[in-house]
Amino acid sequence: MGKGIVLIGFMGAGKTSVGKRLAERLGIPFVDTDARIEQKTGQSISAIFAEQGEMAFRAIETAMLKELAAEPAAVIATGGGIVTQEDNWPLLKALGWVVHLYAPTEALFLRVNRQNHRPLLQTENPRESFESLYQAREALYRQADFVLDTANRSPHEIADELQQHWIN
Ligand code: S3P
Repeated sequence: MGKGIVLIGFMGAGKTSVGKRLAERLGIPFVDTDARIEQKTGQSISAIFAEQGEMAFRAIETAMLKELAAEPAAVIATGGGIVTQEDNWPLLKALGWVVHLYAPTEALFLRVNRQNHRPLLQTENPRESFESLYQAREALYRQADFVLDTANRSPHEIADELQQHWIN
């Protein structure tokens, strides 16, 4: 199967908004791993975390990446924690060009703070949970093939830029 584009990045980085626009422009399918998992299991991500725990969610996520390997090239928006499983890396790389959507922590926290569907931040101190996850993951995102700073750019502009890089 052909190679696509895999968007990685912390929660709130805009992987889904950017991915949808980019796929539209490139005329290839868009896949959001979280949405696929919800569709497939018939459960929300929050319910999976609450009922089966994070490790079960990670196993479902890895299985999803293996499934995607058999599908046509797509723009794939991943969950922020996909980078934490070492086994996922060869799978991500095989799916295509791995792009890290980077944003400074302040911007990310503002974005995720407006939403409340992320189980890993449903804690007594969301700011602290956010910071410690960020610290733990920062180095992992660096394994991407390309990093794009999303600060002060709209999803539209980011998709434009990625499209240019992809073509050239
Ligand atoms: C997670 C990020 C979420 C989702 C799940 C776990 C994480 O996706 O996969 O809540 O570990 O960072 P988004 O990055 O789209 O919020």
